[in-house]
Amino acid sequence: MKQKIEAIQEKAFGLIKEAATLKDLEDLRVGILGKKGDLTLVLREMGKLSAEERPLMGKLANQARNDIENLLEEVALNLKQKEKSDKINREVIDITVPGKKFVLGKKHPITQTTQKIEEIFLGLGYEIAEGPEIETVYHNFDALNAPEEHPSRDEQDTFYINEKVCLRTQTSPVQIRVMHNQKPPIKIICPGRVYRSDDVDATHSPVFHQVEGLVVDKGVTMGDLVGTLKLVAKSLFGEKTEIRLRPHHFPFTEPSAEVDVTCWTCGGVGCKVCKNECWVEILGAGMVHPNVLRNCNLDPDIYSGFAFGMGIDRVAMSQSGINDMRLLFENDLRFLKQF
Ligand code: DAH
Repeated sequence: MKQKIEAIQEKAFGLIKEAATLKDLEDLRVGILGKKGDLTLVLREMGKLSAEERPLMGKLANQARNDIENLLEEVALNLKQKEKSDKINREVIDITVPGKKFVLGKKHPITQTTQKIEEIFLGLGYEIAEGPEIETVYHNFDALNAPEEHPSRDEQDTFYINEKVCLRTQTSPVQIRVMHNQKPPIKIICPGRVYRSDDVDATHSPVFHQVEGLVVDKGVTMGDLVGTLKLVAKSLFGEKTEIRLRPHHFPFTEPSAEVDVTCWTCGGVGCKVCKNECWVEILGAGMVHPNVLRNCNLDPDIYSGFAFGMGIDRVAMSQSGINDMRLLFENDLRFLKQF
């Protein structure tokens, strides 16, 4: 039996040292030490030995088993390391291969201007509100105190979906939604898309953008409106910018005004951009009409407020030197990339 054990061990050592893969090694382990392995089978014959011989052979067999296991482990470790370094050698990185080009996107000029406006108002403590573009006639006209016969209600001007639903023609309906859902103090702006039944030309588009503003609280005055607009105009068009208010009429404000700023190109001395007018109209504004407050269950004897609405596209165009509105909507990347 001693010779048998020694022969198995010798053969095992030879084979294990030559194993080329971990799989070969595992097959060898099973073949030698497994249930039906060579060494295991020899050990089964121990029963036939005499009582003196048995412990000696047992010791010898255990020793052989340990030696084989140790060798298996050692070779396995070497093979693992070899496999790893082979893998690293195979996966050479070719640093001369040209890299992938990243195309950096840009914000659309309208988005840039909208975000600039949002930042100014967020800095003044306003919140940004949103409303639907498919709006009810109630929110878009009725609750805003627009009389039945108001020209803006005409189908020539408004896209109707049915008698009670239209594409909003202004961002002003968001005022109504906010006042219905929130108690004063209210300080919001609402930037968004609006729709009018206009033909496309250099200064008109059936889709354009506005930003609405609304402040409602106890004791809000026209002075607050003027002060706010002055500050916003200076932030948007430059420190030297002045504003002027011209009396106007809007159904939802009383008194109402159209607001001009000194031309941002010539500073108010006259140039091509302002057509020598020195002033450029940028928004409509006024004190929220008592009827509008009442329509939103707010008592005009307790609360007052101001509101304004500004066209974003014209501001974006003027600031980027774009003279044709169509360029903003055609979305030709070669054009838009410049801004
Ligand atoms: N909604 C008006 C428009 O589309 C703009 C406007 C004027 C909004 C005066 C207001 C306002 O909130 O007070 O022409």
